[in-house]
Amino acid sequence: MADNYLEKRYEEVFGSKKTVKRVGHTLDSLLLKNRSCRGYDHSVRVGEDVLRKIVAVNTKIPSARNQQALRFRLVVAEDEVSVVNQNIKLGGALPELHLPFPGTEPLSFIIVCSAIEPERYVYVDLGISLQSMLLKAVEIGLNGIIICAFNAKEIAEALHLEMPPLAVLAVGKSAERFKLVDMPADGSVKYYRDADGVHCVPKRSLEEILLH
Ligand SMILES: Cc1cc2nc3c(=O)[nH]c(=O)nc-3n(C[C@H](O)[C@H](O)[C@H](O)COP(=O)(O)O)c2cc1C
Repeated sequence: MADNYLEKRYEEVFGSKKTVKRVGHTLDSLLLKNRSCRGYDHSVRVGEDVLRKIVAVNTKIPSARNQQALRFRLVVAEDEVSVVNQNIKLGGALPELHLPFPGTEPLSFIIVCSAIEPERYVYVDLGISLQSMLLKAVEIGLNGIIICAFNAKEIAEALHLEMPPLAVLAVGKSAERFKLVDMPADGSVKYYRDADGVHCVPKRSLEEILLH
């Protein structure tokens, strides 16, 4: 093959490298797609193999004192999924919608537990872990949601967990549409559905969050 053939061909098709936008995932594109999802497409099953890939991000992330106290229980079996669904609360800010809509309940979960008595560093680790796993899910083409409104005792008993569950992560193919919107004039942080059913999430601007 001629010297630099592929490079030259690439430039013919896509233009000079200097002007070509990076293809694939950027952090910004992952962050934008990573909206909390409260309705899932049941035609797409997320198996244990995919959940294992998502949990694997935890082998590469920071941890206070590098103690790595978090442990992860995968939930895909129908009976266990059903128990978890009965013990989580989704969309507390939109009680009138009774989310998730029937037939769009999450079907795969990762329960995050702590192998030690949770203290503040464990909670910092927990946040890093949950967001890293969500970003991995988005990279794979899925979505998810962090759930902290759950009945810990019931879930721990049903799943025979020996450690306290700190958070539940649902993962699946989204059946929802969502977008970020500017903060409304009244300053409400409440998410809402627009007339087309799109889930709208207000975010503060950079100027608003920077301290001077
Ligand atoms: C620590 C934490 C706990 C959360 N717990 C719940 C929950 O129990 N139920 C729920 O529906 N959403 C929960 N969420 C999702 C938030 O409501 C969501 O992040 C927020 O509305 C902003 O939407 P976005 O994630 O699409 O930006 C939680 C998010 C975080 C970070």
